Amino acid sequence: MCGIVGAVAQRDVVEILLEGLRRLEYRGYDSAGVVVLDQERRLQRVRCLGKVKILADAVAREPLQGGTGIAHTRWATHGQPSERNAHPHISNDRIAVVHNGIIENYAKLRAQLQAQGFVFTSETDTEVIAHLVEYELRRSDNLLQAVQKSVAQLHGAYGMVILDKDEPERLVLARSGSPMVIGLGIGENFVASDPLALLPVTRRFIYLEEGDVAEITRREVRIYDTDGQPVTREIHESSASYDAGDKGPFRHFMLKEIFEQPQAVANTLEGRLSESSVLDETFGNGAADMLRKIEHVQIIACGTSYHSGLVARYWMEEIAGISCNVEIASEFRYRKSVVRPNSLLVTISQSGETADTLAALRLGKTLGYVTSLAICNVAGSSLVRESDLAFMTRAGTEIGVASTKAFTTQLVGLAMLVLALAKNRGLDTEQQKELVKALKGLPGLLEDTLKLAPVIETLAEDFSEKQHALFLGRGEEYPIAMEGALKLKEISYIHAEAYAAGELKHGPLALIDSEMPIIVVAPNNDLLEKLTSNIEEVRARGGMLYVFADENAHFEPSPDLKVINLPHCHEWLTPIIYTIPLQLLSYYVAVIRGTDVDQPRNLAKSVTVE
Ligand code: F6R
Repeated sequence: MCGIVGAVAQRDVVEILLEGLRRLEYRGYDSAGVVVLDQERRLQRVRCLGKVKILADAVAREPLQGGTGIAHTRWATHGQPSERNAHPHISNDRIAVVHNGIIENYAKLRAQLQAQGFVFTSETDTEVIAHLVEYELRRSDNLLQAVQKSVAQLHGAYGMVILDKDEPERLVLARSGSPMVIGLGIGENFVASDPLALLPVTRRFIYLEEGDVAEITRREVRIYDTDGQPVTREIHESSASYDAGDKGPFRHFMLKEIFEQPQAVANTLEGRLSESSVLDETFGNGAADMLRKIEHVQIIACGTSYHSGLVARYWMEEIAGISCNVEIASEFRYRKSVVRPNSLLVTISQSGETADTLAALRLGKTLGYVTSLAICNVAGSSLVRESDLAFMTRAGTEIGVASTKAFTTQLVGLAMLVLALAKNRGLDTEQQKELVKALKGLPGLLEDTLKLAPVIETLAEDFSEKQHALFLGRGEEYPIAMEGALKLKEISYIHAEAYAAGELKHGPLALIDSEMPIIVVAPNNDLLEKLTSNIEEVRARGGMLYVFADENAHFEPSPDLKVINLPHCHEWLTPIIYTIPLQLLSYYVAVIRGTDVDQPRNLAKSVTVE
């Protein structure tokens, strides 16, 4: 969602704020803005419609300078993207606010504040915060107190930073439902919605907890909990790479991240496998004892992460013999569910800040699961901190909005979870060894699969004028077809649907004609024969087929059937391997169609609102 950066320093902070926004742009990119307090203690603001680059150009034209400032990149919730709706919002030339989240009772507050004479200049919910703080400041001793009084009146989700021109070397921040982190400098301090924004200036971070309000000055950080009591929060040293925000030689972050997958998977496996099993400490201290009790698994996630959960269900039931449900977080959180005895709750999330997944975890923790496990890519994220157990995917920072390396590393994490559970349920040692060996060979296999990139780049030309596409798979390849369809629609804006191939004849066959490309995920497994019959059904109706197949399956190409051969791999790993060409296909189609690959329209990387 929106990205926030703030700084209090002796030096000029404008470039720090702009660089922070560039690094946060993956969160939202419809408009951006910055406010600094200049030497005459005036709030100097520049805002614009569009990306951070446009903001930086505007700042270059009308230079700003100041040691205290806040900045924001927006993903619109209330009010369309426009300069007027861009943050920071200012009240009475005194209070400036940046906010990530949604204020649900903003309409009521707005009416109350209007009745007090406040004039609103935007359609946003955020402007309510600016005026409310200004209003409360009139009856408070200082900004901190005014913010504490204000947040008590807000319903919804927020991560926010507030600047008062009368307290020039201070920022007050608050968190409820949306992440906020403080970056500790030497004689200067910073805040952001993601530590990535602050890596150029610090590696020492404090994560605010739910309900915390904090104030930072150049030399001090003070944090207060929901009851207004001073609290100490742990300092984390980040090992994230400073360069995580650079594309290197790649044209887009998405392509870079696709090619990083062999390394990301190797990192995710490292130190977690013996010759024949998953090491006990892989899922955290005490996890092995917990896992021994498990008889059922409930997986919850959103989007691409949900697809990895769907694959895991096939593995879980086949290999570990454990029943497994998978559900979209936004559905789970609003329905009454029945928890089976000895159930494990697994949440999956790249960011660890997805609002629906977090809410589902919080609900799940009240329902009687034995324990909760987060499979996540961001250490220190809310999901990791609030779960009993965590498995970090070590994919490295993922910047492209379309998730790639996070997905394949989630699958690796889930595969290890399946192995750990299967071991408890008596999977024989030879089979365990075979699966461990297959996992260890994965990085090399991914390297080989990536060599298909030029072939797929050429193939992508067939799709450039298409309006629709159908993806087919069976068994654990069905979720991979779903993931392929999601990738294609989100970055190329081609309407794409996935079907379990056996379901075609129950309706979707009606869509098939020569204009409909059909992408088939067809590894050499025991469902191949059935899948081949489905392919023939499509062929008989004039569809153009693109079959991603095992090199050993010897599919015969023909004018209406293109075959893309993939390296042969262990049956268990096919969902991971067959994901790669589908990622590449959507990438190259998007490039040909000229879309904004890393920041597709209407989307944001981290969905911290409902
Ligand atoms: C699609 C994509 C999204 C995310 C979803 C969940 O490419 O990235 O569907 O997978 O928003 O996000 P996380 O995994 O951060 O919870």
